[in-house]
Amino acid sequence: MRKRVSSILALFLAMLVPVVFLSACQKPKPEQVRAVKIADGEIDPAEWGKAYPVEYDLWKKTAEPTPTGKSKYKRGFDADKITYDKLSEFPYMALLFNGWGFGVEYNEPRGHAYMLKDQVDVDPSRVGAGGVCLTCKTPYAPQLEKEKGLDYYMKPWDEVRHMIPEKHQELGVACIDCHDNKDMSLKISRGFTLAKALENMGVDKAKLTPQEMRSVVCAQCHVTYNIKKDENKKSVGIYFPWQGSKWGNISVENIIKQIRGDASVGEWTQKVTGFKMPFMRHPEFELFSFNSVHWKAGAACADCHMPYTKVGVSKVSDHRVTSPLKNDMKACMQCHTESAEWLRDQVTAIQDRTVSLMLRSGYATATVAKLFEKVHELQAAGKNIDKDLYEKAKDYYMEAFFRSLYVGAENSVGFHNPTEAMRILGDSTAFAMKAEGLLRQALQKAGVEVPLTVNLELKKYLNERGKKKLNFQKGVEIDDPYGVQEKLLKVTLE
Ligand code: HEC
Ligand code: HEC
Ligand code: HEC
Ligand code: HEC
Repeated sequence: MRKRVSSILALFLAMLVPVVFLSACQKPKPEQVRAVKIADGEIDPAEWGKAYPVEYDLWKKTAEPTPTGKSKYKRGFDADKITYDKLSEFPYMALLFNGWGFGVEYNEPRGHAYMLKDQVDVDPSRVGAGGVCLTCKTPYAPQLEKEKGLDYYMKPWDEVRHMIPEKHQELGVACIDCHDNKDMSLKISRGFTLAKALENMGVDKAKLTPQEMRSVVCAQCHVTYNIKKDENKKSVGIYFPWQGSKWGNISVENIIKQIRGDASVGEWTQKVTGFKMPFMRHPEFELFSFNSVHWKAGAACADCHMPYTKVGVSKVSDHRVTSPLKNDMKACMQCHTESAEWLRDQVTAIQDRTVSLMLRSGYATATVAKLFEKVHELQAAGKNIDKDLYEKAKDYYMEAFFRSLYVGAENSVGFHNPTEAMRILGDSTAFAMKAEGLLRQALQKAGVEVPLTVNLELKKYLNERGKKKLNFQKGVEIDDPYGVQEKLLKVTLE
């Protein structure tokens, strides 16, 4: 009898465990809709805040400095307001992006409240494309695009920004970007970018589940995109390069195929090689949704970046969107039973490994770029370079470059999908090594000696940035967790 009772008890407990686990992850009921009505088309968050003061206050907190010392790679913004700049942290990027805005100033992200303000402050070369740059910076973008048409894309950035009502010329993401004013459900506000891209993949946006919407609202901005240019290099459109991909299966290979095959998105010319190319930006949604463990487990962006939090008597989604590390791993502990310390160590270990491979891929790609520079000099001086070897090397170089760019631009330093990030970087390195071999062969055929270690002249690129000179002298360290940069690649900044 006793045995029977204990086995029933065990069964009961076994059933209870998943219930506890699940309920920890369950959403709270939305707050009761207040009497205050939000008018259709209302953009001002303060008006929405009258109905939902708790979310409004949390949302405002994205303007506060983020704590430092909690995340190894996403350092946060301390009292000194050092803006951590990727080019100083990863000097190979200064070489590869030399030739346009990203080679001049490329900063780590910070709180949502700053998205438009940081564009005002950034080097003007970064908003050279025009009004189109406002697409994921202001809640007025959908309206401006609809009303101004082509002018929205091609008119100078500052001119289009001044079409926004004066009090909102520095306002970042607002309630209307993610919510329906009638019932506070999540909605897509960027019809002209995200809704189109989903349609292209055959996704019926009306059928997305509430849990999927908790990622999709972020995918309005945290994705890679390309700007279309006309013959006069004016911006005429914007799109997400997801053609040929599927929901939950947007691979880097498909993106590269799409952008390399579309001559109208050749947005810039890489100075060191002279190659006209497309670009890639922050593919958080793409990397995360491509079969990552957490995507497959049904997690959404909001689970980790907007965890449920208690404010007084209300349990609400934390609208102070930030890194889970800066929020002491609270988001993770909604589902995980491990300690905060264990979880943080896991994140750092994943990021260290990613950075190690980023360095390998980045410097291997930069070395090929320098060899192309050499080849082009020789060609200009009348030397004959084997055409087949050259073309093959160029193809491999592009494949290497875009893979390196993809992971470097993704903001989680590999965490969103560790195995996929490593796979991409491994392939990038393999393509770059192959390209280097082919170029060395071509140079040898032309009777030119190439030293074993190619001088990357990194200091030159880091300092060739107008006002934005080498930043790490101010105390920003270069990341090299396993000493790859120094030992294997013999890269020095002198
Ligand atoms: C309208 C565009 C837009 C939407 C929608 C958006 N973001 Fe962002 N997000 C940005 C931009 C731009 C930045 C960088 C701001 C800066 O550095 O000035 C950013 C920064 C961040 C950061 C860094 C914050 C920090 O403290 O450093 C996180 C995390 C983030 N977003 C997550 C999300 C999540 C999760 C969602 C969906 C719930 C989301 N974002 C929706 C545009 C957007
Ligand atoms: C399982 C949890 C998890 C999910 C799901 C998740 N993230 Fe993250 N995200 C992280 C972690 C961990 C980091 C690294 C933060 C750090 O190093 O401080 C990160 C980093 C980021 C950053 C950079 C933050 C910073 O401070 O610079 C952005 C932006 C971001 N994520 C957006 C997203 C978006 C958009 C999605 C959905 C497409 C998403 N995340 C899904 C856990 C998650
Ligand atoms: C970047 C997108 C984004 C922005 C901007 C945003 N929210 Fe939310 N909001 C969310 C997400 C995601 C949820 C969770 C919804 C769910 O689980 O169905 C949410 C939930 C809510 C809820 C339901 C209760 C809760 O807290 O879970 C309210 C009310 C709300 N938001 C109000 C606001 C207000 C007011 C603003 C502007 C000050 C705002 N939101 C801005 C994404 C956003
Ligand atoms: C919505 C629930 C949920 C949240 C939130 C969540 N996780 Fe997970 N996590 C899971 C599940 C489920 C798995 C798969 C576990 C398994 O199958 O063993 C997982 C797996 C992992 C793994 C193992 C990954 C691997 O490749 O095997 C790590 C590490 C991890 N999570 C860390 C984190 C961190 C750090 C955070 C917060 C930034 C977090 N998780 C947030 C549910 C979650």
